[in-house]
Amino acid sequence: MIKFDENVYIFDHPLIKHKISILRDKNTGTNEFRSIVEELAMLMGYEALSDLPIRMDEVETPIAKCKTPVLDGRKLAVVPILRAGLGMVPGILALVPTAKVGHIGMYRDEDTLQPHEYFCKLPRPIEQRVILVLDPMLATGGSGSDAITLVKKHGGVKIKFVSIIACPEGLKKIHSDHPDVQIYCGTLDEKLNENGYIVPGLGDAGDRIFGTK
Ligand code: PRP
Ligand code: URA
Repeated sequence: MIKFDENVYIFDHPLIKHKISILRDKNTGTNEFRSIVEELAMLMGYEALSDLPIRMDEVETPIAKCKTPVLDGRKLAVVPILRAGLGMVPGILALVPTAKVGHIGMYRDEDTLQPHEYFCKLPRPIEQRVILVLDPMLATGGSGSDAITLVKKHGGVKIKFVSIIACPEGLKKIHSDHPDVQIYCGTLDEKLNENGYIVPGLGDAGDRIFGTK
């Protein structure tokens, strides 16, 4: 993982690069696409959670009593941005099965590219939790930035944003709107096109995960 900027990390692991290349391929079918999104979320989530707080607990092994580290504090909250973020949830839950899951519904207006919120349900209390906001695509950054604002309005403080493919425009927006949020990107693509799609990207993540269109 490369530290790209303060609080911004871009992955450089060969497994992550390889799996993203499979997602890019227009011939990759829904079933494989879904599994790879899940695997990427797990690999990226593992790194993104490397600073989770721990405390020492006493445990008795068959041999002796010892002090040993366990996760401390309130559990994790995972917050996918609907729809496409849903595809990343199983990968994170495989790592932390006790995590609570919130949902934020956002869709982008096709003409204005502005995000519109249509659903928000977050676990409570959220103040003490580490919150992973998930969305495979960071394009204009509008959806991600608004989702983080919403999480903050509900009291969220320790927020991390995990995306599989980002572009410079979206990364700049979300980072300048929320410099306190740690942002993790599987890769940083070249640019946005005139329709607001990431180039080369992978197309419409929601459609490819759910087999719509
Ligand atoms: C896609 C994607 C992001 C958003 C990114 O969602 O999953 O949420 O676009 O674009 P942005 O950075 O320019 O806001 P979309 O609105 O297509 O909804 P869907 O996931 O339901 O298909
Ligand atoms: N949303 C997507 O699903 N893909 C893009 O390239 C941009 C936004």
